[in-house]
Amino acid sequence: MKQSIAEKVKGAHFPPTQSYRLEFDADSCTQCRLCTETCPTSCLQWDDEAKKPYGTGLRDLELACIGCNNCEAICPADCIRVRGEYRVLEGRYKTPEDRFGPMRPLAPLNGSGPAQDAGASLEGLTETEKVIYRRRSIRLFKNKPVSREIIHRLLEAARFAPSAGNGQPWKFIVVTNRELSDEIDQACAEVTNKIHWLYNGKQRWRRMAVTLFSLLKVNQMDQRPISAMEKIKQTDGCITWNAPVVIHLLKDKRGISHPDIDVAIAAQNLVLAAHALGLGTCYIGFIASTVKYAPAIRKMLGFDYPYELVTSICVGYPKVKQQDKPVPRGPVPVAWIE
Ligand SMILES: Cc1cc2nc3c(=O)[nH]c(=O)nc-3n(C[C@H](O)[C@H](O)[C@H](O)COP(=O)(O)O)c2cc1C
Repeated sequence: MKQSIAEKVKGAHFPPTQSYRLEFDADSCTQCRLCTETCPTSCLQWDDEAKKPYGTGLRDLELACIGCNNCEAICPADCIRVRGEYRVLEGRYKTPEDRFGPMRPLAPLNGSGPAQDAGASLEGLTETEKVIYRRRSIRLFKNKPVSREIIHRLLEAARFAPSAGNGQPWKFIVVTNRELSDEIDQACAEVTNKIHWLYNGKQRWRRMAVTLFSLLKVNQMDQRPISAMEKIKQTDGCITWNAPVVIHLLKDKRGISHPDIDVAIAAQNLVLAAHALGLGTCYIGFIASTVKYAPAIRKMLGFDYPYELVTSICVGYPKVKQQDKPVPRGPVPVAWIE
């Protein structure tokens, strides 16, 4: 899908989009509000009068939802789910045709055939597969410290990840000081609030600025994180979800080939090990993507060349047990060449 310059400058700013669909059974709702608390975006809000959650949009987005379905995973009454499809219809972020299609349930043992929602079963799978499918991003943590021994175990899982040329081009900064994590959150939120302001304005110059930034930094200007930035505003700068531990993962910029890949693999080793140990994790990309505009973060974490932040991971004990039911995901384009 090669795009001309004309297509690239079209619709970088809230393009015409088909949004996901929220399905909600009000009769079963226990009013625990976990769905709204755990939602990473501004999509789910609580209606005090009706005593139920409702879905909201953002500018031209009908539902400001990223389709993670954590609301479904956390709901003890099984009364909420997100279905349907997110599709950008034109312009810079147009969805490729081979990714068209609604979310589908998990069906690893179903060959290439379709599966019904109820058919999303983990029966017959290995323990490793079960960990992969049951892991969810956790954003509600118990106020309970994680022991050094357990953190060490996670770091060991990361250390034993594969890396290009066995270069092991990583460094980990473990922050268990919540006050420091709060300060980092605030410095990061200052930047996300500015991006949110720029992106949300209707003035022509702001739209032109977003278009220009999207030409230069296509990965940074997608409209979906804007709904997460809206949530950051609503929660007064909560970036790392009050987690008792935040592990920052850095790369040695001079690492062989693509050190970001090495660090990402180490990160996922850590995340899966954490899940297997009963811990919850949530990747935080906002700190790495804003650190260049907020040098104070670099100072607070005390790192310098040759290290660069790749991602951060919140770690802690989940406040509530997530439902073990795997959630659906979008269709994946696979080309078989035999
Ligand atoms: C590189 C990366 C960066 C992410 N950044 C954030 C973030 O800043 N804040 C957040 O709440 N979640 C963040 N996430 C979590 C994603 O929103 C989440 O993985 C996705 O919605 C799928 O949900 P699941 O992890 O529960 O399957 C990030 C995930 C990845 C892989």
